Amino acid sequence: QTDYGRLLIGEKMELFAEAVRLAVAQKEASESTNFTWAFTGGSTPQAWYQWAAETDAIPAEVLASTHFTVSDERCVPLNSDESNFGNAERKLLAPKSVPVEHRHPWVVAYEPEKAAEAYRRTMQLLNPPGKAYDVCFLGMGDDAHTASFFPGSELLKSDGSVFFAAVDTPQKGWRLTITPTGLQACGLIVVMTLGAGKAEALKRVLEGDDALLDAPSKILKTCADKVVWLVDEAAASQLS
Ligand code: 6PG
Repeated sequence: QTDYGRLLIGEKMELFAEAVRLAVAQKEASESTNFTWAFTGGSTPQAWYQWAAETDAIPAEVLASTHFTVSDERCVPLNSDESNFGNAERKLLAPKSVPVEHRHPWVVAYEPEKAAEAYRRTMQLLNPPGKAYDVCFLGMGDDAHTASFFPGSELLKSDGSVFFAAVDTPQKGWRLTITPTGLQACGLIVVMTLGAGKAEALKRVLEGDDALLDAPSKILKTCADKVVWLVDEAAASQLS
């Protein structure tokens, strides 16, 4: 247990399986009318999608009765390799025939602020007030960012009320993302962090005394009771 959530260190395949187990257990315990599960973006999930699709790790009844989305998105068309939802759809949701009405991409055809507004409306139709997602998957960058909270991000300075927003980041341009307030409105947050490239950032986040703006994943301290970190040996190699 850390100040930023529960830490599980293991082999990649164990972590892949644990991510499914945690999400399915959350669904089984949930009273949600619409169970919502947000995947994260970047490269880490790609291998996980592949594995989940090939191994049928997610039970068919969960796939058929869950609303899927992504916790943050780039402002690119769904058919782009950069599209977080596009990747989840191509690698998992489509091969597993998840009903189209259960697939909820951010509407990136609009300009960012309008896309965020449209997405907020979609999520408000699915969820009761006060809920963002039942399960939110996140990754962590080697600069210790998570979701689209990059170092210095405006989102880390405000305790705004919206759960989902558009933010123009100096590092990556416009991004659509769950906000820190939105993270606190999730049922379970699973952060998958793999590889030696993340070891320094993970140590800064979990053990360092960096400011939040320099180690944005420290935002998870505000919802540590619902956070599980799934970390491999390489990423955990600098932890004391
Ligand atoms: C994104 C992700 C981002 C990602 C981290 C880790 O849209 O890129 O949401 O927050 O989780 O950058 O990315 P990797 O898994 O590629 O290292």
